[in-house]
Amino acid sequence: MHEDTAAVREFFDRWEVYKAFVVHNYLHHREAMAAFTEWLDARGPVGDFLDLGCGDSVFTSKILASRNVASYTGVDFSPVALRLAEENLSCCAFPRNLICADFFQEIPKMTAVFDIIFIGLSFHHLPTGDKTTFLRSVLSRLKPSGGLAFFEPVRLEGEDREGFLTRTSEHAHAAYTGLTPDELEGALAHIRTADFPESPATYCRMAHDARFGRAGVLYICPEKLFALIACSGIESQKNQPA
Ligand SMILES: C[S@@+](CC[C@H](N)C(=O)[O-])C[C@H]1O[C@@H](n2cnc3c(N)ncnc32)[C@H](O)[C@@H]1O
Repeated sequence: MHEDTAAVREFFDRWEVYKAFVVHNYLHHREAMAAFTEWLDARGPVGDFLDLGCGDSVFTSKILASRNVASYTGVDFSPVALRLAEENLSCCAFPRNLICADFFQEIPKMTAVFDIIFIGLSFHHLPTGDKTTFLRSVLSRLKPSGGLAFFEPVRLEGEDREGFLTRTSEHAHAAYTGLTPDELEGALAHIRTADFPESPATYCRMAHDARFGRAGVLYICPEKLFALIACSGIESQKNQPA
């Protein structure tokens, strides 16, 4: 699977730039994580949780700390982010395992299976042609009754990548006023190099093609630049038309 690994890792090793986006809620983490929490709670006990591209685990550690979690596994290729994740997870009582690796390479090698798999803002780095194949390997790590949720940038239906990049740049220049010009241009350069988002409907179709059960949108931000999508494991296929 092809991601521009060196460029993506270099960007996230300068964690403070990404952190500025989070602090200002420019990516709508708060609303997306509220929708994710609601989805999680409706499923019952969390069980074994896999966090792909976990970064500093700041949101997942807070959500999971007070819930019934059997284990937490976080995978990220940025040692800088993982050091912060270790700190953020220190208040959690469940066993944890932080793996410094490229999760696109790691997932096919894993043998463990999980109840919940979460991907936060890192799946869209794969080119379109590789995404269904990757989702298939994610499904192989999910228990039949499990669930996958991913929070990703999205294109509008019928919008091409250039259109998405223009829309993102226009929105960023108008709305991300709390960033320095260097931070803003650095982030836009990262997006131009590394982001290959799909529309929510395409993501759901890819999940269906990968043989997930149901797939649907849990949250989409007002500018329609970010969405949270959830898919159920193979068990729910039994209740679905082919
Ligand atoms: C935008 S941050 C998101 C962090 C966190 N999931 C969140 O939602 O705030 C993306 C994270 O994914 C990591 N990442 C991107 N591609 C990756 C890959 N192929 N393997 C491992 N980590 C990856 C980056 O290092 C970074 O920490």
